[in-house]
Amino acid sequence: MRRPLVCGNWKLNGSIGKTGQLIDALVSGMTGIDGVDIAVCPVFVHLPLACERAAGTALHIGVQDVSDQAQGAFTGEVGAGMAAEFGARIAILGHSERRARHGETDAGVAAKFIAARGAGLTPILCVGETLAERDAGDTLAVVTRQLDTVLEMTGVAGFGDGVIAYEPVWAIGTGRTATPEQAQEVHAALRGRLAAHDAALGEGARIVYGGSMKGANAGELMAMPDIDGGLIGGASLDADEFLAIARAAVAA
Ligand code: 13P
Repeated sequence: MRRPLVCGNWKLNGSIGKTGQLIDALVSGMTGIDGVDIAVCPVFVHLPLACERAAGTALHIGVQDVSDQAQGAFTGEVGAGMAAEFGARIAILGHSERRARHGETDAGVAAKFIAARGAGLTPILCVGETLAERDAGDTLAVVTRQLDTVLEMTGVAGFGDGVIAYEPVWAIGTGRTATPEQAQEVHAALRGRLAAHDAALGEGARIVYGGSMKGANAGELMAMPDIDGGLIGGASLDADEFLAIARAAVAA
């Protein structure tokens, strides 16, 4: 039985005041919600604040990216070890917004995956197709390529406790969620790909869904056999809505 993961991707949102309030609301609202890992990923500058407020609680804090380098002449980048030193435990990698806006490649994302694992962070590898790719019937080819590049560079042992997030680009921030069946088809294919490398990895790896997930649709998505939680954007900025998703993960 895989333990579900519900992770908020706060993207470019928050402030000293709002981030602190939201962390406090989550920590107090999480009481009694057991059987699910709950995490949020604020912007880098709010990481120390978030880690301090969440210290000693069950709320995990993560980051939205890391450098593939540990340190050195890499202006503007943040090393995974630097984030881990503050208490970050998770790193979202290869989000479609970064692939599109920053030209991140499959190989570049794989290098970040290795850096994150090396610093003890749990990577969440984002994969997903655009609407044009789905319409062309290329969905499984795209997500398989995105996963394979990482697996080829890490090997099975290097993939470790890595999490995959299936995030169809057309469902992100659009209010248009993949149907449970559409998502399950892709999740099952990704799990099959992991299993082809290693049966235990296929069985144990968590594959979460992201794309307009909210309290009202989380239950039916997470009821699918290969959907082990969610990576949530907009709805994670509202403590009640986000915790409703966490409860749905426990019930699924
Ligand atoms: P939304 O939940 O806002 O659609 O965003 C999903 C996402 O991109 C999470 O990484």
